[in-house]
Amino acid sequence: MAADAFAPARLGSLLLRNRIIKTATYEGMCPGGVPSDQLVEHHRALAAGGVGMTTVAYCAVSADGRTFAEQMFMRPEVVLPLRRLTDAVHREGAAASLQLGHCGWFTKNMALSTRLPRGPSLAFNAYGLSAGKPVALAMSGAEIARVISEFGLAAGLARESGFDAVELHLGHGYLLSQFLCPATNRRKDAYGGSLDGRARLPLEVVRRVREVVGAGFPILCKTNLRDGFRGGLELPDAVGIAQRLEREGADALVLSGGFTSRTPFFLFRGRRPLAEMIEVEKSRLQKLALAWFGRKVIREYPFEEMFFLREAREVRSAVRMPLVLLGGIVSRDNVLRAMAEGFDFVAMGRALIANPDLVRRMQADPSARTRCNHCNVCVAEMDRSGVRCVLDDARRPD
Ligand SMILES: Cc1cc2nc3c(=O)[nH]c(=O)nc-3n(C[C@H](O)[C@H](O)[C@H](O)COP(=O)(O)O)c2cc1C
Repeated sequence: MAADAFAPARLGSLLLRNRIIKTATYEGMCPGGVPSDQLVEHHRALAAGGVGMTTVAYCAVSADGRTFAEQMFMRPEVVLPLRRLTDAVHREGAAASLQLGHCGWFTKNMALSTRLPRGPSLAFNAYGLSAGKPVALAMSGAEIARVISEFGLAAGLARESGFDAVELHLGHGYLLSQFLCPATNRRKDAYGGSLDGRARLPLEVVRRVREVVGAGFPILCKTNLRDGFRGGLELPDAVGIAQRLEREGADALVLSGGFTSRTPFFLFRGRRPLAEMIEVEKSRLQKLALAWFGRKVIREYPFEEMFFLREAREVRSAVRMPLVLLGGIVSRDNVLRAMAEGFDFVAMGRALIANPDLVRRMQADPSARTRCNHCNVCVAEMDRSGVRCVLDDARRPD
């Protein structure tokens, strides 16, 4: 029988008031890497809008794990501001999760303590060209051990900050995804090669985080169903990763896809906001590169409601653990269909950026749907002055 999307549900030892999660969408609201009042209000409003749990996006586990200099990274100084955020969310009746990640080599962060970024193997980092970081080196064993420990420390601080769950980012082409991807992990040691080798670091991270946060504290993992390019991670490996994460004791998987450096719009689908991306880019070199090559290298994918459902079904039939369906969930009908398909939760990104009160509306109105038209300008402009829906702006794309 399908679960009731609007009734309370367990996630690990946590009881959520419903099965709808606001997924991580980078907020761009942490000037100097410190959570601002704007970030607190952003998540309070989502909680007031009815979600079961909201996810604070893309917090790096260390200074070197940041893609951008203005990104939050976990350290004792952010515990108090994050406490204000989790308190505000809890007062509205929702739970709060923190997405923890490491960018690997996908960075243009000038504050890296290492001279060049690190990833599983030697790599070209086009994104870091203008920041003087065009090449990434393979991580040593000691660097791998440090990252595992950083994930543990960051998860401990998340718990101290009042978060009810952590979400480990294993997707979208960041460090753990770079290790899982056969095209970017060409290591010959125990951390490369077969799926067991490529999955070793992510699994060791989950194990360390579990040791730190303890039994029952929910650990979600955001994983890719497909990277979206030839040679990247494909569905059979995604199923194998899900089975390994289930055995490792992860509490839920958030099923996504795409590789930010290669197939960024595989993640989102819909309009490719190239003009807006060029406009917001600060580096002149990167602006020119986007203008000259953007159309060729940044592929557009048509939007479809529930666009990961077909691949996600394969994972559903391979594991018993809770699964979160994500991608193009825009209406109450979509939510009910996800439940009928056997998913335990849904996660929504753009639909809730456009309508933070959508869950409350869905509860009252069977025909409720978001106003989001997947113009994706929110993606292009996310770190301009905080992520927002541009549909109220004068120059709105149709
Ligand atoms: C503005 C914006 C920022 C995003 N930032 C993140 C992020 O920090 N971490 C992440 O895992 N996904 C990020 N995503 C991807 C979303 O979590 C989600 O996977 C994607 O938007 C598809 O879901 P949707 O169709 O419900 O929007 C972002 C999406 C948007 C629109």
